[in-house]
Amino acid sequence: MKGKLCGHDLLTYDLLPSTSDYLKENDLPIGTVVRAHAQSAGRGRRGNGFSSLEGGLYFSVSLPRSMPDSQMWAVTFMAANALCDVIGERALIKWVNDVYIDGRKVAGILTEVRPDRLILGVGINVKKVDLPPEIKETATSLEECGINKTADAVLEGFFEHFDRYFDIRDVGDALERYRTRSLLTGKEITYTENGERKSAWATGIADNGNLICEKDGATFTLSSGEVFEVRSNK
Ligand code: BTN
Repeated sequence: MKGKLCGHDLLTYDLLPSTSDYLKENDLPIGTVVRAHAQSAGRGRRGNGFSSLEGGLYFSVSLPRSMPDSQMWAVTFMAANALCDVIGERALIKWVNDVYIDGRKVAGILTEVRPDRLILGVGINVKKVDLPPEIKETATSLEECGINKTADAVLEGFFEHFDRYFDIRDVGDALERYRTRSLLTGKEITYTENGERKSAWATGIADNGNLICEKDGATFTLSSGEVFEVRSNK
């Protein structure tokens, strides 16, 4: 189905393998939003799958590559901020691309670089559904958290905020907003380095989007990888 959303062309499908793959495989004008009510091969970061059952909101948008590659992380930050704006103050961002409520993941963001465009994909658990066993304990939905917003309202609200952030392209503003919502700041975390599991304290978000950590009095940053929160009392 074809429609319009905050000035974007909107294509809606009942089921797609992945809305981001659809945008990669079809030469649609930049700015097009593709939404699916369910995905059969939803993808997350680092080749992970993303559970995309009916009851969630799954969409991707193609964006111009109008920021330097070194600032691509800021697009993910803008999307995370826009999601938090829509969900409300209970939403926090787990570096780098996940949105959490009450310690559980409610949304994920995947920003991918193509030669001529960026593809931003967002998945949000909206309705309470029977999640797969492997994420049952760690994921939640807006409905489960008592936030009764429709998927349509979340989608529209997202673009009202995201388009403003992306039009202005103020990386400093994206950072400031992200920092106030950073779930990991002040927490003990674990991460993997050269196949080895390590721990450190996360102390903030650096100006280049990296996670600032401390261990035995030394400060260092993490630029990528999966990071897990362990505890919050130093
Ligand atoms: C993550 O959790 O690592 C990111 C998940 C991103 C999921 C969205 S859903 C819409 C778009 N299509 C996909 O296949 N992935 C993204």
